[in-house]
Amino acid sequence: MEKNIGKKFIEFTKYDYSTYDSDQEVGIASPSIDMPYDVSKTMIDLPDPALINLNNTNIKELIEERRSVRHYSKNSLNLQELSYLLWCTQGVKEIINRTPTYKITLRTVPSAGARHPLETVLLINNVKELESGLYRYIASKHKLIQLTDNSNISVIIANACLKQSFVAKSSVAFIWVADIYKTIWRYKERSYRYALLDAGHVCQNLYLAAESIDSGVCAVAAYDDNEINRILGLDGENQFVVYIATIGKKIKSNL
Ligand SMILES: Cc1cc2nc3c(=O)[nH]c(=O)nc-3n(C[C@H](O)[C@H](O)[C@H](O)COP(=O)(O)O)c2cc1C
Repeated sequence: MEKNIGKKFIEFTKYDYSTYDSDQEVGIASPSIDMPYDVSKTMIDLPDPALINLNNTNIKELIEERRSVRHYSKNSLNLQELSYLLWCTQGVKEIINRTPTYKITLRTVPSAGARHPLETVLLINNVKELESGLYRYIASKHKLIQLTDNSNISVIIANACLKQSFVAKSSVAFIWVADIYKTIWRYKERSYRYALLDAGHVCQNLYLAAESIDSGVCAVAAYDDNEINRILGLDGENQFVVYIATIGKKIKSNL
């Protein structure tokens, strides 16, 4: 590892170095809202997130009680809860046409310039009504597509998370992928900062939403980048994993 690479990153992503026009400024059309996906795949409907029954809606208590949880009950999440969690972390509230080639989404989380470069891949281990495997959330449609039903995938992913075995024992692991050109189109090299900041907001919403349904989350940033990107079929340059978080029902004695 180059010793001063972090300092260089902070230095050269300052606005002082932003001396050339962005693709937005030269008139290139904005990339699509959702990272391209295989449209031949069957779309899986999710229940209306508004129909969730929450156990606790007191924001002060949710913030106060939040802890990182790495041990989960065997009780599964259900599809209604998963739908709610996806909505809380990436849910699209509005699509605005800025120009004929420039659309933005307003979501339940903030994002620099409303670029929303993050995509959600789900490792499903224990969700009622959903086969285990890897899925992608298509935010603009609030639907899922299945990527693989490989029964070993949870262990493969846990191993890529530097053998953190709780990843495979969670109900779901949210894997957030940056499709970085969505932000680069507007903010150039500074986008790498923004995508990471965006991810923090997303994960915090997952932590707090989880508390409201008796579930616990653990953020995971210790993973082998090349390995996790390879498993997900990402090139690691234009699209790469930026953050992961596991979730599962809390063990009753911990409630
Ligand atoms: C950016 C980030 C990365 C993290 N990565 C991991 C991880 O890879 N494995 C893990 O067990 N916990 C991870 N955590 C959880 C922290 O260890 C945890 O937040 C910290 O110990 C404080 O505990 P609390 O969240 O219960 O307040 C991470 C947290 C953050 C914010």
